[in-house]
Amino acid sequence: MMFLPLILALLCLNVASFRLFSPEYDADDDFNLFVFTQWWPQTQCQAYDVMNKTCVPPGITKWTIHGLWPTVGEEHKPVFCNNSWPFNEGDIEDLKPKLELQWPSFESHHDEAGFWKHEWEKHGTCSTVLPYLDSEHKYFEVTLSFNIKYDIFSVLEQKGIVPSNEKTYQVKDIENALLDSYRVHPTVYCLPVKSSEQMLSYVELCLNKEPSLIDCVNSTAHCDYSKPVQYPPIVRLDGVM
Ligand SMILES: *[C@@H]1O[C@H](CO)[C@@H](O)[C@H](O)[C@H]1NC(C)=O
Ligand SMILES: *[C@@H]1O[C@H](CO)[C@@H](O)[C@H](O)[C@H]1NC(C)=O
Ligand SMILES: *[C@@H]1O[C@H](CO)[C@@H](O)[C@H](O)[C@H]1NC(C)=O
Repeated sequence: MMFLPLILALLCLNVASFRLFSPEYDADDDFNLFVFTQWWPQTQCQAYDVMNKTCVPPGITKWTIHGLWPTVGEEHKPVFCNNSWPFNEGDIEDLKPKLELQWPSFESHHDEAGFWKHEWEKHGTCSTVLPYLDSEHKYFEVTLSFNIKYDIFSVLEQKGIVPSNEKTYQVKDIENALLDSYRVHPTVYCLPVKSSEQMLSYVELCLNKEPSLIDCVNSTAHCDYSKPVQYPPIVRLDGVM
């Protein structure tokens, strides 16, 4: 019996420290859709003109994954749902060759594992309520499969929208190409960069929990519709095209 107060004290301490170290802990919040974000590698390298323009690793020719995010409306939440389920690199060892091509980091130090850890801990741990996403391995494997299934590069290519240094495109044409193919409204993002008015940056597709494509809540492009958009060709890290 003399241990009871001690146990209670430890429990309180545990709860308190948990709150302290997880300010964003929000597991009570359910979500109603996923935002699946893919980005165009070359634009990430040129973002804000501060990064090295040749940051795309060899072998990458298509759009890559930023993340699969549980979302309520437009808000990417809940996040950081389970800090007792830390990222374990060993669990996804077999997926690494695919992850390196389909889910690379474009930061200057190319910290792939750090990027995957962040996505798992922030978003993956909130997705485990669904049986098809109830492990770290499944979260990465399923997201990789979405990148194959929802191949933005090929959808745009079919409409003659291909990376170019000379040609620019209209935001509406990009939206319409995606809408024609997927039959749902995606959200298109552009980035203003020094060397051009705006560059094609992200495409978000929204999925319900089945998971099937649905219209994104706000499908208005985060681009300037009155200006052309550039879709820059990939400049490879090793300089060979
Ligand atoms: C970009 O990075 C590559 C590989 O790290 C390096 O060889 C090249 O010199 C860098 N270029 C610039 C402009 O910093
Ligand atoms: C949190 O992660 C642990 C370790 O994997 C797991 O046993 C537990 O069920 C998870 N909790 C929730 C609420 O998912
Ligand atoms: C949708 O996104 C656009 C572009 O960022 C923004 O101006 C608009 O307010 C958003 N609409 C809603 C309903 O959130």
